[in-house]
Amino acid sequence: MSSTRPDKGMLAIDPDKAPDSPCWVIDLPALEDNLKILARVQREAECKILLALKGFATWSTFPLIAKYLTGATASAPHEAQLAREKLGGEVHCYAPAYTESDLRECLKYSDHIVFNSFTQWQKLGPIARAAGASCGIRVNPEQREVAVELYDPSAPFSRLGVTEAQFRPELLEGLEGLHFHALCELGADSLERVLAAFERRFGKYVPQLKWVNFGGGHHITRPGYDLDLLVRLVRTFKQRHDVEVYLEPGEAIAIRTGVLVATVLDVVHNGMPLAILDTSATAHMPDTLEMPYRPEIVGAGEPGEKAHTYRLGGLTCLAGDVIGDYSFDRPLEAGDRIVLLDMSHYTMVKTSNFNGVRLPSIALRNADDSYRLVKRFGYESYRDRLG
Ligand SMILES: Cc1ncc(COP(=O)(O)O)c(C=O)c1O
Repeated sequence: MSSTRPDKGMLAIDPDKAPDSPCWVIDLPALEDNLKILARVQREAECKILLALKGFATWSTFPLIAKYLTGATASAPHEAQLAREKLGGEVHCYAPAYTESDLRECLKYSDHIVFNSFTQWQKLGPIARAAGASCGIRVNPEQREVAVELYDPSAPFSRLGVTEAQFRPELLEGLEGLHFHALCELGADSLERVLAAFERRFGKYVPQLKWVNFGGGHHITRPGYDLDLLVRLVRTFKQRHDVEVYLEPGEAIAIRTGVLVATVLDVVHNGMPLAILDTSATAHMPDTLEMPYRPEIVGAGEPGEKAHTYRLGGLTCLAGDVIGDYSFDRPLEAGDRIVLLDMSHYTMVKTSNFNGVRLPSIALRNADDSYRLVKRFGYESYRDRLG
């Protein structure tokens, strides 16, 4: 999803020290800075914050994350298993629909199960309750805050969450929580409006519950985020309803914590200079094409802003495997390293092996400025995704 401004934390990464190329490098001190902000919110708002694994699941960082957050939220059995095995703490699970076997698998690892409809709750709720899970239902507050429809769970005809019109108060027996998720990269002002819509539509049911989950999309660690407003919203909500409150951001854990280091492999010409990198927009950072957005690159400007403009393209055969047009002070040459900023979230979790291209390696930068390679993907990782 959209890139945020570079900052000291990311620029502390020295591309020449990256142990491989292409390589994601996660800066542990920058990650810890984010976690400290989230811990402050947990403390001051007296709420619980979960890592949404769909956004960031690089488990070599989980020992650090476990020091600060309450647990994780999963969207499928494999995420739930990873959360239980590698992070610990509370494990929550939500999926737009579960098969019975997926639900049983999730239940092995999860404390909370959130259903997306009353039909799923009626069909599978007894199994989840018998396994001891605290069950909830996702509702749709129908408050539109997200500009890009692809990422707006409150857009018309959204399948995500029960609308007020479809709500079945007579089926609440046994449910312990409500969940909503209506934000994407947004501030506490958006949460305030969503919360008002949620309370208008569903507030009357909250007193009989134990918890309300405010979902993700809170850009809590972004510079300028109104932390005081978030704390006030959560605290006053808790005072009004006497329930536990959960937040489950993904991006907020990982924004501004990592880069993708790539290398120029060739420069060709067709109407303009075209640099071919050892990475790929479609295989390694698909949100650049899906959202779409233009990642920032260290030392590069808008096309024409600096002396030498290039279209940066990837390794696959997809004609549109293009990261964007960027200008540089000096001509690019094969072997030059390029550093794409803000590449921790929604990248490593969304890659593909299209064209059989190797996935970027993963490395961590420690506080003492040492670099540790934690993963290099070989032929097996490609082969084992197929059959
Ligand atoms: C149900 C739910 N919870 C949490 C998240 C995490 O959102 P973000 O990474 O934007 O904070 C998402 C993202 O799509 C989601 O769908």
